[in-house]
Amino acid sequence: MSRKAFIAANWKMYKTPGQAKAFVDAFLPLVAGHDRDEIALFPSPVLLPTVIEAARGSNVSVGAQNIHFAEEGAYTGETSVGQLLAVGGTHTLIGHSERRQYFAETDAIVNKKLHTALKHGVIPVVCIGEVLAEREAGKTEEVLKTQIAGAFAGITAEAAAPIFIAYEPVWAIGTGRTATPEMAVEAHIIIRAEVAKLLGAKVAAAMRILYGGSVKPDNATALISEEEIDGALVGGASLKPDSFTAIVKY
Ligand code: 13P
Repeated sequence: MSRKAFIAANWKMYKTPGQAKAFVDAFLPLVAGHDRDEIALFPSPVLLPTVIEAARGSNVSVGAQNIHFAEEGAYTGETSVGQLLAVGGTHTLIGHSERRQYFAETDAIVNKKLHTALKHGVIPVVCIGEVLAEREAGKTEEVLKTQIAGAFAGITAEAAAPIFIAYEPVWAIGTGRTATPEMAVEAHIIIRAEVAKLLGAKVAAAMRILYGGSVKPDNATALISEEEIDGALVGGASLKPDSFTAIVKY
């Protein structure tokens, strides 16, 4: 089955509104008419209105890096799915390793966020991946299976269609140390098999599994042209229009 690649920029906590607008203004002409792949930007919440406005009517979607699982409430500092939808955001990352590492997000929290996103029609990108010590201890498969089972608890095959998974080995994030295409493919096969076990072969075959972790213009082609790798979630190399365009056009 052929799956359309999804190439996404995770800007993390970078850019002011002015810088974000300048990026979009420079980027849109570079990718105009590019419909081989889906393209999305994930800026900080304070940048969402600016980026959404600047990208309106283009082939570039915009989403949040995080949402809260509650619909609203006394959760200082958080953003709800309703707030995201109201400003025109369509997607959200869930469970990025930096959320897990610095903000104590567990698989149970990821699961609650996934339910909330699906309930409100926000397209979720569920991030999973092992840390270096887990890989070195031969626990990668076990970690990925646990993260998937935790994230997908109570999710039905009918509800699962919009979900993306991003495989982001933590040791490859921001380190310049990319997983080889072989390592990424091996992990993606494990992930797809686990999704098939939980949600059925049809859902698994259609689900897009992205790779993230030091994706750069010079390694994007080798990674994304793998049949098992359905796109990329890009951090550092997504901050400049030229380098992100080179990845989009791998
Ligand atoms: P880098 O591309 O900077 O390694 O970041 C990857 C990432 O965390 C994307 O979500």
